[in-house]
Amino acid sequence: MNYGPIIFLGVFLTIASSWIGLVLIPQVQFGRQQEVKIEETGEIYPTVRPGLAQQGMEIYKANGCIYCHSQQVRPEGYGADIARNWGQRRTVSRDYLHDNPVMLGTMRTGPDLSNIGVRQTSVLWHLQHLYNPQITSKGSIMPPFRFLFEKRKAGDKPSPDALALPKEFAPEPGSEIVPKPEARALVQYLLSLKANAPLPEAR
Ligand code: HEC
Repeated sequence: MNYGPIIFLGVFLTIASSWIGLVLIPQVQFGRQQEVKIEETGEIYPTVRPGLAQQGMEIYKANGCIYCHSQQVRPEGYGADIARNWGQRRTVSRDYLHDNPVMLGTMRTGPDLSNIGVRQTSVLWHLQHLYNPQITSKGSIMPPFRFLFEKRKAGDKPSPDALALPKEFAPEPGSEIVPKPEARALVQYLLSLKANAPLPEAR
C-alpha cells in the first residue's frame, strides 16, 4: 500500500494544528491590542517608555537581571505575588505592549520587578543597591554591579554626580564613585516599571 498520502496528511495536520495554536489563535486574541484611556485617571496606558528608560532596558538585558528577576504578577489564587506586594493586580498582555523583547523571566531568586517603580522610587536607593546590594539590603545575595560605576579622583569639592555612600562602603579619601550613564539609564528603566494602571481586563 502507498503510505505517502497518509504520511503527508499526518505531517500537514501536525504543522497546521501547531500553527493554529501558536500563531493564529494568539494573533486573534492579542494581535490588535492597543493603548486604552483609563477611566479613573483619564491617562493613556501603556505609554512608550522614555528614551533613557529604553536604553536602560538594554542594560537590564545585557546584565542578565532576567536570570533572577521576573516581571509578571500572578492572579490571586495562583500564588502569593499580590500578598507579597509585588503588584496590586495581575499583569496582562497589554502591560507589555511596547516592550520588545518582553522581560517576563522565569526565575525568582530576587523579587518580581513588574512594579518596582511603584515600590521603590528613590534614584539614590537604586544606585546604592546596584553599586553594592549590602548597602540597602544587608545579607542580599544579589551580585554587585560595580562596573556600572567609575572610581574617580575627587577634586577639592565632591562632584555633584558622585554617589553618596555610607562610610564603610566609601572609597579611600581623595576618590569618589560616579555612576556611569549605563547605571543612570538602568535606574530610569527600573523606575518606569509600573504595571499598576487599573485595566478592565485585569480586574
Ligand atoms: C543572582 C541573582 C540576581 C541577579 C543576577 C540580579 N538580582 Fe536583583 N535581587 C536579587 C535578590 C536575591 C534580591 C533581594 C535582596 C535585595 O534587595 O538585594 C534582589 C533585589 C533587587 C531589587 C529590589 C527589589 C525589591 O523589591 O526591593 C532590584 C530593584 C533589583 N534586584 C534589580 C536588579 C537589576 C537591575 C539587576 C541586573 C543589573 C539584578 N537585580 C540582578 C538577585 C539578583
